Amino acid sequence: MSNQPLVLGIETSCDETAVGIVRGRTLLANVIASSVEEHARFGGVVPEIASRAHLEAMPTVIKQALLEAKVSLRDLDAIGVTAGPGLIGALLVGTSAAHGLALALNKPIYGVNHLSSHLAVDALDESRPLQPAIGLLVSGGHSSIIQVTDMARGVKVLGATIDDAAGEAFDKIARILELDFPGGPAIDRLALSGNPTAIDFPRGLQSSDYNFSFSGLKTAVARYLKQTPAPHRADIAASFQEAIVDVLLTKALRATAETGIDSLIIAGGVAANSRLRAEAARRCALAKVELRTPPPLLCTDNGAMVAAMTSLALSAGVASSKPGFPTLSTVPLDQPTWA
Ligand code: KG4
Ligand code: ZN
Repeated sequence: MSNQPLVLGIETSCDETAVGIVRGRTLLANVIASSVEEHARFGGVVPEIASRAHLEAMPTVIKQALLEAKVSLRDLDAIGVTAGPGLIGALLVGTSAAHGLALALNKPIYGVNHLSSHLAVDALDESRPLQPAIGLLVSGGHSSIIQVTDMARGVKVLGATIDDAAGEAFDKIARILELDFPGGPAIDRLALSGNPTAIDFPRGLQSSDYNFSFSGLKTAVARYLKQTPAPHRADIAASFQEAIVDVLLTKALRATAETGIDSLIIAGGVAANSRLRAEAARRCALAKVELRTPPPLLCTDNGAMVAAMTSLALSAGVASSKPGFPTLSTVPLDQPTWA
């Protein structure tokens, strides 16, 4: 095990200042400081506040991760950092810290794709082969179905949302229901006391491709709320959640059936949703598909996923990034690391 590379990963694409340390595919530390409470009163992440919070939290988060992993900076073999997609100002704090460490330690630096990292965190469950797998990536900015043939070098996107991302739909519905920000966890909690079959919300695109559309569902929830005299908010939350979970799993499992790949990774912030996890377990068991969902803390943004992606790239012999690589607000999913 000790000949496996020791990698530190930094994530600052949104409101989490996060540092993870892995050795090969073993997780050693995962430290997360979130500025979410500073954004709550604005109902969304304020980029400038996020950037400042990253700057303040970064040194402590790095120190704490090293302590947790019981390693020192000198032991590291490489530094990984989220280079996009994300908020540019926020990303720059992470990439500046990573460049500083890489330069001072004379170690390679990998600029990594945030989206690929969400899937790569699955590698930290060492009992499983990495690929092939079908990935359902559901976060605040993306909802995609992916065929994972080589996690370190690139994946094939089978389909994606044509409008709102799954997490975005959760956040927007939560706002309509006047719930706290971020909306996903708030709906998850409220839905626990609601009836998921109370309202039959539309399931969006039922087409035979792997694309999603959630804007119709959002409109239907808003219309229901407006037209119903005494709406039961928990029933709305549970029924909305049921509709979105149904659509995501129907398409993801169709992809496993049609490709003949009997392994499904569900990753990204929405993969922390309790109903999605329970229903995925039930449906995957029925379909005899192996379900791979990282623990909830590794589904929402974290540094361990960046370290995992970097470690996979390093082990696969992928060249490190050229210092000074750009931060990007949008990046295709099939580019796991930067040149
Ligand atoms: O992956 P992530 O942490 O950040 C992005 O890369 O976007 O995903 C954040 C999204 C937010 O939309 C949030 O509301 C959603 O994930 N989310 C959830 C849950 N926890 C986070 N959605 C539904 N249920 C949850 N428990
Ligand atoms: Zn994310």
